[in-house]
Amino acid sequence: MNSYVEAVNYFKGNNPEDIVKQYGTPVYMYSEEKLRKQMKAVAQVITKYPYTANYSVKANTNLEILKIALSEGINCDAMSVGEMTLLLKAGFPKERIFFVPNNVGVEELQFAIDNGIMTSLDSLSQLETYGELNPGGKCAVRINPGVGAGHHEKVVTAGKKTKFGIAEEDIDKIFEIAKKYNLTIAGINQHIGSLFMQPDPYLQAVSNLLRIAHRFENLEFIDFGGGYGIPYHKLDDEAEYDMEDFKKRLEPILDEFVESYGSTPLFKSEPGRYCVAESSVILGRVHAVKQNSGKKYVGTDIGMNVLVRPSMYDSWHDIEILRDGKPLSRENLEEISVCGNICESGDLLAKDRQLPVGIEKGDLACVLDTGAYGYSMCSTYNSRPRPAEVLITESGEVKLIRRRETIEDLMKLF
Ligand code: LLP
Repeated sequence: MNSYVEAVNYFKGNNPEDIVKQYGTPVYMYSEEKLRKQMKAVAQVITKYPYTANYSVKANTNLEILKIALSEGINCDAMSVGEMTLLLKAGFPKERIFFVPNNVGVEELQFAIDNGIMTSLDSLSQLETYGELNPGGKCAVRINPGVGAGHHEKVVTAGKKTKFGIAEEDIDKIFEIAKKYNLTIAGINQHIGSLFMQPDPYLQAVSNLLRIAHRFENLEFIDFGGGYGIPYHKLDDEAEYDMEDFKKRLEPILDEFVESYGSTPLFKSEPGRYCVAESSVILGRVHAVKQNSGKKYVGTDIGMNVLVRPSMYDSWHDIEILRDGKPLSRENLEEISVCGNICESGDLLAKDRQLPVGIEKGDLACVLDTGAYGYSMCSTYNSRPRPAEVLITESGEVKLIRRRETIEDLMKLF
């Protein structure tokens, strides 16, 4: 495809140059239409049994996006007091928040207890702490189903080589601790990792978790975690994750469980990326074009502080080049590395990428699929304030949903 933004009318008739004139670069630009479409899709993953999708907000915690999730009727999972506070501020009632922390101190657990938020404990050690803080209470435990998956070893969160969850062989110890503190284990959850395009490892982990679930009595819910992938290679026409096929393969596994368990718990999943990744592009300005030892570099203001995924995981993000707000043709391509303005040689958005011939200073780089783990992983490295975020509403209105950070904001902390 020559241009994704053009094919889907991403800017809804707005000229991106007008948007950056008003809000500057780099800027995250979200599509409300895409956000709602993806959230509707995750809400339908299981239709035969009671089910809720929990949007995993670590992917993106912009308050307006949380309010969109609230209005779409999906629930959320949180990883920290910060995320729980944002969800409460967005208007989520406590019943619609699930706290799934890892190695937290008593203050964070106490915050969830004080606010009546269901919490999952990720180790026997944390379960013990929870029991001391909230004897007689109700909680969940995170199980490591022994299977992991993901786009990079840094995002595989189950299996024998990760820090997450409680191993199957320790389940008796869960019951001992629960008994000691009179805790009710209301639910079990897992998360095997992030970004798979084939559902097989996930389905295997679902089967494993459901087998393990038989050891727990009267579970109120079973949460299978997130990880559904999105097509990051859109310009090469990569297909979407096949949700329909996934649903068809998941259902018989649930049927078998419901029949043998004797009651039907609430099923949950925790998609982050799938809800938000495709709903954002970053627009950044090309400030330099240079040759270094025969290699061509295009230098932009989209540094690794703005989008860390390429430097951190070698992640691929498609890039379009816009001139006067219109995508350059991809008919004639040349090899180019696109980099940011950070003082690190790893500050590369795209290495040796085939991009349109003739990119010039003043063009806009438009980086696709940046809505998940984009802004939420931004930093102020090199003392660069974090970018602004704008939303293109369904009616095509452009709305600022987080102002750009300023140098004064950075100075306030001293
Ligand atoms: N549930 C739990 C407990 C998680 O730890 C995560 C993600 C999710 C759900 C949502 O996973 P998703 O559906 O978004 O794949 N920064 C990395 C991804 C790290 C994911 C961490 N946990 C990236 O940019 O690829």
